Amino acid sequence: MSAVSLQPVTRHNWHACAALRVSAEQQVLFPFSVLEWIAESRFEPSFELWAVEAEGTAVGFAVLGEDEATAEHWLIALMIDARFQRRGYGRAAMQALTARLAVRPGCRRVLLGHRASNAAAAALYAALGFVEIDRDGHEIIRALDLKGAI
Ligand SMILES: CC(C)(COP(=O)(O)OP(=O)(O)OC[C@H]1O[C@@H](n2cnc3c(N)ncnc32)[C@H](O)[C@@H]1OP(=O)(O)O)[C@@H](O)C(=O)NCCC(=O)NCCS
Repeated sequence: MSAVSLQPVTRHNWHACAALRVSAEQQVLFPFSVLEWIAESRFEPSFELWAVEAEGTAVGFAVLGEDEATAEHWLIALMIDARFQRRGYGRAAMQALTARLAVRPGCRRVLLGHRASNAAAAALYAALGFVEIDRDGHEIIRALDLKGAI
């Protein structure tokens, strides 16, 4: 398995994170830049920003968050820079993120959403056990049970 570590985004690594990019084709499916997530976290107190690092290099970026109204935990965003994709880093990052959530008191499941046409995301999340629980016109919502019962 590809080894990654999750590092908090700080004054030391935010610039490296902000330089990460998905491919031009993927921008249609994932139209947010890392800088936008960093900016939004200024106003969303539950947002946790994580740098995905491999051998000390930032290769991706993830955001976790908690819905104030429902207390549900969400994977708000995950991206691996286009130069580093298809090396197992996305899968390893997801495993590290869900492992981190699984030990939090009261966190029974994690939710995420992705565009229905995002085949890479759909394949990755389905392979990790995320089950579709809802969909609207263009977005699929999935959940992973962390404690035994969705
Ligand atoms: C989705 C994403 C995070 C996957 O990252 P990655 O590091 O390339 O993924 P991995 O190498 O760990 O691959 C894990 C699985 O994802 C799926 N996958 C990844 N890229 C894929 C592609 N281009 N087409 C189809 N399936 C793909 C495969 O099932 C793969 O398993 P396999 O290698 O056994 O076939 C990456 O493509 C990305 O950053 N996309 C743009 C942002 C985005 O769409 N984020 C998700 C929505 S929130």
